[in-house]
Amino acid sequence: MDCQCGEQREDLQKFLQPLEEILTEYEKSSENEQLFENEQKEKHLIPILQEAQEEYDYLPQDALRRIAGHLDLSMSEIYGVVTFYTQFHLQPRGEHIIQICTGTACHVRGAEEIVREMEKELGISSGETTDDLKFTLSTVACIGACGLAPVIMINEETYGRLTPDEVPEILNQYKS
Ligand code: FES
Repeated sequence: MDCQCGEQREDLQKFLQPLEEILTEYEKSSENEQLFENEQKEKHLIPILQEAQEEYDYLPQDALRRIAGHLDLSMSEIYGVVTFYTQFHLQPRGEHIIQICTGTACHVRGAEEIVREMEKELGISSGETTDDLKFTLSTVACIGACGLAPVIMINEETYGRLTPDEVPEILNQYKS
């Protein structure tokens, strides 16, 4: 069997090229700093993760490994930070982000039924992304529109006083 290691390495290099540019930028900005001092590592880690996520839309394992190597941190240190902040995502996310509010006001007005209907319509559980990368479904605490409970947001759009039977029609607007 032919070894495709060289090819894979090349693909990986290409994939990581945008990250290399981000790392180089931070290296330049740290020219007068002791980058590998602990404090400096922490100072640079979060902005690097943010920029990497902006580039890839999530934080792929290979990118995290490269960042860990660059900052001389262990993968568990990196995961500690990535899993602490909800802004970071370890899995690819959908084109449309659905957030269902399950705060108190929405909860008492039937948020759970909305969650169930969404999960049924999309065939995924909350916290997951559809295989076609169209939708990511998540639940969130109060989004500050309690008067409209139960409320969901799809991307930047808010839908209030929602009933489960409205869910399929709303999703249809985003399916094409
Ligand atoms: S509890 Fe849902 S918007 Fe406040």
